[in-house]
Amino acid sequence: MPKPVRITVPDILARKGKDKLACLTAYTTPMAQLLDEQCDILLVGDSVGMVLHGLPTPVGVTLDMMIMHGRAVMRGSSRALVAVDLPFGSYERNADQALKSAALVLRKTGCQAVKIEICDGAAETISFMTARGVPVIAHIGLRPQAANIDGGFKAKGKSDGDRRRILADAKAVDDAGSFAIVIEGVASDLADEITTAVRAPTIGIGASASCDGQILVVDDMLGMFERTPRFVRRYGDMRSIIERARDCYVRDVRSGDFPGPSEIYGKTKK
Ligand code: KIV
Repeated sequence: MPKPVRITVPDILARKGKDKLACLTAYTTPMAQLLDEQCDILLVGDSVGMVLHGLPTPVGVTLDMMIMHGRAVMRGSSRALVAVDLPFGSYERNADQALKSAALVLRKTGCQAVKIEICDGAAETISFMTARGVPVIAHIGLRPQAANIDGGFKAKGKSDGDRRRILADAKAVDDAGSFAIVIEGVASDLADEITTAVRAPTIGIGASASCDGQILVVDDMLGMFERTPRFVRRYGDMRSIIERARDCYVRDVRSGDFPGPSEIYGKTKK
């Protein structure tokens, strides 16, 4: 059987205003295997730090962690476009630093694109990287890497000034050549205005149904956590499934019921 061809950057650009992009985060090979067939973009988000490593924010995530999880997701996928987040501190200084980090991620993982959060000089950085062959997704609105400055994960665009700044950010990263724009945690009418104003497909998370696509943290939508943000819809209750299985396993081990005759190897032949 011929290997399926991965979704490309031009494929994503061509979806503007057409079929919605269904995107999820992924951090491991088995999860990527499960999601790959149906998802357009698998994002190896720096949310991995909070979801799998117990960090309070993504600030503690390193390039090495992103590369390790990026490789795992690439091994488990063959169809979706895989993008990897550049973590805090690996791209903000200038375009050279960003290109160096992105090149390392692309070379070591084989992923097709990187994502960066909007920061001072982000548009210049995106233009510099795109001109040198690095496809970039821009992330605007709520920036998880700014959690320390913002005092947590707070929705954005509440004041007129903030709205104007976020719209200007969107236009700037669009002009700079981003092939998709993640809009996180903004009022839905602002997300609508951005989606109409930019050429790149917008991917909403806590934004608006009119975005060109949606993304969620996979563990949130599977119901792995007791509490999730308001914008998450839970499509499963993995936490309860795991708790039930855990209780049954512990009960069976303690009672001697596990392992049973079919779960052990036969006696050694003499
Ligand atoms: O890190 C992440 O998972 C993300 C998505 C939530 C967009 O940036």
